[in-house]
Amino acid sequence: MTASRKDDHVRLAVSQHTQTPPSPADTAPHSVTPSAFDDVRFVHHALAGIDRERVDLRTRIAGQTWQAPLYINAMTGGSPRTGQINRDLAIAARETGLAIATGSMSAFLKDPSTAGTYTPVRCHHPQGFVMANLNANATPTQACRAIDLIQANALQIHLNTVQEIVMPEGDRSFGHWPAAIEAIVETVDVPVIVKEVGFGLSGRTIALLAELGVAVADVAGRGGTDFARIENGRREQADYAYLDGWGLSTPAALLDGRNQGLPLLASGGVRHPLDVARAIALGAQAVGVSGLFLTTLITRGLDALIAQITAWLDQLTALMTILGASNLTELAACDLEISGSLRTFLDHP
Ligand code: FNR
Repeated sequence: MTASRKDDHVRLAVSQHTQTPPSPADTAPHSVTPSAFDDVRFVHHALAGIDRERVDLRTRIAGQTWQAPLYINAMTGGSPRTGQINRDLAIAARETGLAIATGSMSAFLKDPSTAGTYTPVRCHHPQGFVMANLNANATPTQACRAIDLIQANALQIHLNTVQEIVMPEGDRSFGHWPAAIEAIVETVDVPVIVKEVGFGLSGRTIALLAELGVAVADVAGRGGTDFARIENGRREQADYAYLDGWGLSTPAALLDGRNQGLPLLASGGVRHPLDVARAIALGAQAVGVSGLFLTTLITRGLDALIAQITAWLDQLTALMTILGASNLTELAACDLEISGSLRTFLDHP
């Protein structure tokens, strides 16, 4: 059951990312789906430009240096097909110097024979920053097993109440999660990162996570892969369609999560290098991408994914050259103009 669900997730996520744009206006070449990121504009300063070779993309996450502020976020594992996907994603991460997370390792905890669908992430990226991924139902002992299997540098715990409720076979009890997270944090010997799965972490949630001892929050907001839609598509009646649009957008979650006591990662609906720069300017220390990179891999292959990530890093460097930001701290200090519904949210959160 879990294996076929993992394959369903890949198929439905890729179909979300390959759907034709909703209106004729969006069909122009190079158009992308509108997003709350469009409400964030850099103020252009024509004399701010610097020499490109001064730009340094390195960032610090959970006490370690990453070569670039970009990572392949949690997706998959648990079935033979997703094991191959994990291998290809790990090769792409290794070739481009990115960090990478496995998908949820609950399948491995239930059925250890699926271990080989997760281990390629470490085997093919031996020196990389690799994150294990579990939900908040895991016990501390289970968390240690998942971390040990792939010698993870950090553990991601995903919070996904909306997905579970819409998932026909999903969980219905979540009240134990804060205590479970605290118990895992106290036991494991790697930093714990808590993430959403595309509905966003609010400032209030991030403040609570800080109290629980969590090291980093990945806001994983609305705007990209939509797990309410994916799970609704797996229901016979598809009767949760009205949840479309639930959650905090990634830029809104970043604004809400500033100054809540935790370093922030941004993911959810990141479409191109300008969104990466915007997320860092809004306070993220690195930016994760899932569905879009998966879609490139499935529809165009591994070489195309490596080329895409390489182009993103090159263009992020170019954007920082225009903005006069020689490092991520300077990028985070760039002047921004915030408009639209994001401005309304900022004024009345
Ligand atoms: C996911 N995501 C996810 N997250 C998680 O913490 N554990 C998981 O097992 C999965 N599984 C998964 C499968 C597939 C096929 C996709 C596309 C995504 C969620 C993912 O990490 C991320 O939070 C969201 O997809 C939003 O980011 P994007 O896709 O908009 O870049």
